[in-house]
Amino acid sequence: MSKRNQTLGEFIIENQNSFKYSSGELSKLINSIRLAAKVVNHEVNKAGLVDIIGAAGDTNIQGEDQQKLDVYANDKFIQTLTKRNIVCGIASEEEDDFITINSQDENHQNKYVVLIDPLDGSSNIDVNVSVGTIFSIYRRVTPLGTPVSIEDFLQKGNKQVAAGYVVYGTSTMLVYTTGHGVNGFTLNPAIGSYYLSHPDMQFPEDGNIYSVNEGNYLDFPLGIKKYIKYCQEDEGERPYTSRYIGSLVSDFHRNMIKGGIYMYPKSTKNPKGKLRLLYECNPMAFIAEQANGKASDGFNRIMDIEPTELHERVPFICGSKNMVEKAEEFMRNN
Ligand code: AHG
Ligand code: MN
Ligand code: MN
Repeated sequence: MSKRNQTLGEFIIENQNSFKYSSGELSKLINSIRLAAKVVNHEVNKAGLVDIIGAAGDTNIQGEDQQKLDVYANDKFIQTLTKRNIVCGIASEEEDDFITINSQDENHQNKYVVLIDPLDGSSNIDVNVSVGTIFSIYRRVTPLGTPVSIEDFLQKGNKQVAAGYVVYGTSTMLVYTTGHGVNGFTLNPAIGSYYLSHPDMQFPEDGNIYSVNEGNYLDFPLGIKKYIKYCQEDEGERPYTSRYIGSLVSDFHRNMIKGGIYMYPKSTKNPKGKLRLLYECNPMAFIAEQANGKASDGFNRIMDIEPTELHERVPFICGSKNMVEKAEEFMRNN
């Protein structure tokens, strides 16, 4: 039984046997993410004091400017996972292609691949607003001991074995699921340990917060426009309010606690949506469903989408079940 204030380390050990293929490997993997997140957290907290704010001068494969902290976080997660030799492959928002680990070693028995958004919401770094990290973990589908291939990464979200995020907010939290509910751990920076502060997190079935970049309103599909109008109409019973941070992790985290819906629909500027299926939408969808919420592209369950490329984008509607279903109804009927 998990106990409030248990450390993340204790929690991982205690719950190891509930993993489907318990061998300790997944526990070690989550442990390394916890460690890398602590290092990144330290750097994020210092932003402003050291020369870590601003653009790195490069763009990633998706044409987005990389911030120095994007590059730093990417390096830290990749180094930690590679050095500790626990995964066979990594895909990241900041890497053009996936990374193969120990492909030369036939005895290499690691079975997990990780997909990661090392720093989410990076446009918020310069202004001291919450950012995050998102991760998604799968068992490889190609044989052990061979180099990983693209099929290991292009798996449907419903095959995830674990997923989580770190929010570097007013306090730093790690929230994750291995398919047995969602638990949130808060970092005590004085001690350097994460403690179980939010056991068994659940989206309220209904909520009153909608989170969307309304600057793109004119370009949204009609169904979304009408849903936004529905949220804005005040009939006394639906006092909806709008909250949008611009960091998926932070917007999602708030909505999971308070009840709400997050939307990044397609638009003329982003005809396929903006968020990436594999390392943003699928992990958040897994967490949402494990917390009694819902995630959809407007018509279909996010986790049932067959991925075709590493960095593909998808429209994303996620949050409290009744709110997502209402938005889907508007999409279907318009
Ligand atoms: P990233 O920083 O990893 O590129 O992700 C940014 C994403 C997401 O976190 C956020 O919700 C969304 O982009 C904000 O986009 P807009 O500025 O277009 O609203
Ligand atoms: Mn992101
Ligand atoms: Mn990012």
